[in-house]
Amino acid sequence: MSETASIILNGSSYEFPVVTGTENEKAVDISKLRDQSGYITLDPGFKNTGAAKSAITFLDGETGILRYRGYPIEQLAEKSTFLEVAYLLIYGDLPTKAVLEQFRTDIKSQMMIHEDMKNFFAGFPSKSHPMGQLSCLVGALSAFYPESLDPNPTPEEEDKTIINLLAKMPTIVSWIQKKSLGHPVVYPKTNLGYIDNFLNMIFGEVNQDKTFDPVVIDAMHKLLILHADHEQNCSTSTVRIVGSSNANLYASVSAGINALWGPLHGGANQAVIEMLEAIKNDGGDAEKYLAKAKDKNDPFRLMGFGHRVYKNFDPRAKIIKKACDDILEKLGVNDPVLDIAKKLEEAALNDQYFIDRKLYPNVDFYSGIIYRALGFNSEMFTVLFALGRLPGWIAQWKEMRENKEPIGRPRQVYTGQTERNYVEITQR
Ligand code: CMC
Repeated sequence: MSETASIILNGSSYEFPVVTGTENEKAVDISKLRDQSGYITLDPGFKNTGAAKSAITFLDGETGILRYRGYPIEQLAEKSTFLEVAYLLIYGDLPTKAVLEQFRTDIKSQMMIHEDMKNFFAGFPSKSHPMGQLSCLVGALSAFYPESLDPNPTPEEEDKTIINLLAKMPTIVSWIQKKSLGHPVVYPKTNLGYIDNFLNMIFGEVNQDKTFDPVVIDAMHKLLILHADHEQNCSTSTVRIVGSSNANLYASVSAGINALWGPLHGGANQAVIEMLEAIKNDGGDAEKYLAKAKDKNDPFRLMGFGHRVYKNFDPRAKIIKKACDDILEKLGVNDPVLDIAKKLEEAALNDQYFIDRKLYPNVDFYSGIIYRALGFNSEMFTVLFALGRLPGWIAQWKEMRENKEPIGRPRQVYTGQTERNYVEITQR
């Protein structure tokens, strides 16, 4: 007999089906609750609300498990490439060698962006934040590819938009960096791979390609793979909800970029490095900042600590911490903020406040130190997170459409004024 759940409201009992996922996750399907009883559920921040059935990413926050389409994140981060993982997330299975080759070729052929887009770059003030620019530029792609506006594209048309966005994102990101420095942009090259092209557009010069240490290439693959998807987080839910109105992929991802920007989400990686710098400049006293983080009258939070879902450890943080040590050693970089980060982590992990609340370092705690060692400035960190998260956003947007999910439209409990009459104080 299938499992059910009963809710008793005002003495009447209502029965609802229990939905069980492939990893035995349980949910009470209350989609008929309001029709049957007139009640809704209230769950600010969706802490207990599943918004979708999804077959893309599984994570178990209690045991620190993260898998993309069933593959453990540890294996993918160690051995796979970013584009292979992108294909896996978007299309459901790992590609064959031939399919991956075609995927790479298709992307490479679309990396150039329309010359007219340069006008946008010229219009941004030189100090404007890269995330604001990125969301505008990704949204603006819809203007250059109006066929993407079709709410019912064929699978071939949809794939074209997906390839286009995956291809143009590294070019846009690197041009943002170049423009912020006042440097001429470097065009994508057909003889380079996705990551090499990206790094060359960021760090190369117009007439001189740059070659990169395999350690750097490997680190980029790893970081992007670790960020590639994380099920129904704030930015991904934004992408799904915007896409649920049949908004095009560029518009939906542009909205996701804005959601990612906040320091409680992807913006934390920039905030972490700024926090570590501030602690260093203030004499390196980790305990002082722990006390600030615990003080309820102080808005300061330990950035890069805590997670809505992980309550034991963040498996991505484990991989990144090790990668951080390896990369800094291999590149011969000695970054004093790494010592501060380790001191702070140790102090927090032994502090009762953090133990009681199950607060551990998250993916953003060490990623900025690696990005900095690779040569990125801190304002670019969240943009790099967006580049990594792009395949996940695309996969989730595609799945939402394939599942024919209804438009996202939460309800509310109204707590404002009851009806009152308008009294005129001026004339129109
Ligand atoms: N420093 C100090 N206290 C914290 C922190 C922190 N970083 N995070 C949570 N707490 C406390 C919080 O004050 C609350 O305490 P109390 O129960 O006494 O009121 C308790 O822990 C639970 O916190 P919450 O805000 O209810 O938890 P949440 O699930 O709503 O928030 C979070 C999760 C990630 C927004 C939060 O932990 C945080 O603000 N962390 C710092 C920002 C950060 O690193 N964000 C990156 C997340 S990982 C990348 C990504 O995927 O977005």
